[in-house]
Amino acid sequence: MSISTATNIAGVPLASYVCNASGPKCTSYEELAELGRSKSSAIVMKTCTILPRKGNPEPRLAHVGKNRLLQSMGLPNLGYEKYIGFSKKLKKYGKPVIASIAGFTLDEYDALAHAFQKSDAALIEINASCPNIKGKSQIGYDFGQMRDLLSLACDRGGKPVGLKLPPYFDPVHWDIMSELILEYNISFISCINSIGNTLVIDPWKRSTVIKPKKGLGGLSGETIKPIALANVQAFYERLMGQVSIFGVGGIMNGIDAFEFLLAGADAVQVGTSLELEGAGCFGHLDAGLRTMMEYHHFSSIAEAKGKLSYL
Ligand code: DHB
Repeated sequence: MSISTATNIAGVPLASYVCNASGPKCTSYEELAELGRSKSSAIVMKTCTILPRKGNPEPRLAHVGKNRLLQSMGLPNLGYEKYIGFSKKLKKYGKPVIASIAGFTLDEYDALAHAFQKSDAALIEINASCPNIKGKSQIGYDFGQMRDLLSLACDRGGKPVGLKLPPYFDPVHWDIMSELILEYNISFISCINSIGNTLVIDPWKRSTVIKPKKGLGGLSGETIKPIALANVQAFYERLMGQVSIFGVGGIMNGIDAFEFLLAGADAVQVGTSLELEGAGCFGHLDAGLRTMMEYHHFSSIAEAKGKLSYL
């Protein structure tokens, strides 16, 4: 049986279902070029800000359990101008480059969205969910600010604009966000970001495991998969195929990727897997997904998408 894992996000073709998430190993040009050479179906760049940032004090990332990370990086990045240049240089890898942007004010978001519309990035992901900046709320949890952000940044030229969302735990929040996404013609969403402001304690050292924010950080990896799946399912139902969905959260193997496909994701992004396994993860994930598709007699992503059955 011939199986294709090719897909698309907002009409932009992806040669396979799995690419990297903004986060680990996508900040420097060398790291991005490695993603270009890998089997990742896109090159998602680290969330950038107007000015370069060193990020939070170290230690700021900890491995907590077998397949989990806690991090409070604090947006270390080279500043948006570098990533505009990288988007051009990375074109030689023949796969879509995805810019990820975060402002400290709405004007900054506006300027960044504007700038990347003129870049060689194929898609622009607005990060509305960075949990690690001291004293700043996650815009994704403030629906008033979210509306202001969308009215500014959503329509800045021809490139599809998407939103990286935090996890929601209440159906009313899925309703409100879905209405905003449809009202402002957002082309894709990436859900979910890490679960913000979680605490891991080392009981033997009687200590936190990362330094910033009294040890609070974003949790990622296998623990968050059920939360990510619920968010994908919720948005898939509410957005009715009008908005593409990147599923993100705890995808460690091909079976996990297949679960996101059943829940309605058009493609998936992986952060923790990439951090733990390196760029070889994309080939393993694609092979595992193909095995699951074959088992269930699906030959394409379109055939399998959203085919979750209910008891
Ligand atoms: C960072 C963490 C995030 O979860 C995110 O969405 C953006 C940035 C960080 O701390 O660098």
